[in-house]
Amino acid sequence: MRRLRLAAAPHGVLLLLLILLPLVAAAGPAAAKAPAAPPAPPNVTTAMAKGGCKAFADLIAASPDASSTYQSAAGGGITVFCPTDDAVRAFLPRYKNLTADGKAELLLFHAVPVYYSRGSLKSNNGVMNTLATDGAAKNYNFTVQNEGDAVTIKTAASGDAARVKSTVVDADPVAIFTVDAVIEPVELFKPAPSPTPAPSPAPAADAPKASKPAHHPAPVVADAPGPAATDSPPADQKKEAKKSAAAGAPPCVRWFAAALAAVAMASTLA
Ligand SMILES: *[C@@H]1O[C@H](CO)[C@@H](O)[C@H](O)[C@H]1NC(C)=O
Ligand SMILES: *[C@@H]1O[C@H](CO)[C@@H](O)[C@H](O)[C@H]1NC(C)=O
Ligand SMILES: *[C@@H]1O[C@H](CO)[C@@H](O)[C@H](O)[C@H]1NC(C)=O
Repeated sequence: MRRLRLAAAPHGVLLLLLILLPLVAAAGPAAAKAPAAPPAPPNVTTAMAKGGCKAFADLIAASPDASSTYQSAAGGGITVFCPTDDAVRAFLPRYKNLTADGKAELLLFHAVPVYYSRGSLKSNNGVMNTLATDGAAKNYNFTVQNEGDAVTIKTAASGDAARVKSTVVDADPVAIFTVDAVIEPVELFKPAPSPTPAPSPAPAADAPKASKPAHHPAPVVADAPGPAATDSPPADQKKEAKKSAAAGAPPCVRWFAAALAAVAMASTLA
């Protein structure tokens, strides 16, 4: 009987209840206890796909190892360098040649388990470990360097350094930048071959033992402003170098060089 009456209650009462209930709930102790959940990090693969790295995101989605590691790393801070679709297309034949483990490692090699904003990336150059790094045997590191206004990434195996292009996401704890080439880890790809052809087979008796080409990566401290650095910061030194390089040229050439530099700078910022 009571239930019936409630069901038959005028709409005005129900409306009042609908308005009051949330207010009561919000003021109650339960609401005070509820922890303010931090905003979930963006879905990394979805963001990549939207930002010009659809092909790379598809490769991650096809590798269960890679996709679970990417997603679990996102919450703790991650910086992803995703190759553009053109770069992936050019690399695909060599990618398909890799084992399933090799594929996952190559994909994980394109992210660092630390959040770097675009600005801090420029000052944090040097050797970085990646999501693929697993002890000394699987070192999977690469070297981040500044070249003028550009940030580049390379390994001893990559011919040309990959250049960091656009910013897809840059919001702590997740940064995603596009790069114009797939970065090749030395663990999966042979270092660029030396131009000297192998000598024809000959009695090795008195010939000096052919030494393997040394592939020790150059020490990476070059760019770091150490305590021994002179009083002018590196950026100023570079400017000075540019200035003195242009100083010998006639004024019109200097203007042209300056204009070229401005265009180059604008295109790297674009
Ligand atoms: C991210 O998005 C992809 C594709 O929509 C989906 O398969 C994956 O489960 C998502 N990951 C998370 C953690 O939501
Ligand atoms: C794939 O691997 C085979 C065997 O190692 C090699 O001969 C071939 O050149 C590789 N193809 C590409 C595209 O790297
Ligand atoms: C980077 O990896 C290479 C190859 O495994 C290794 O020889 C080198 O010591 C590593 N560098 C650093 C700084 O970890």
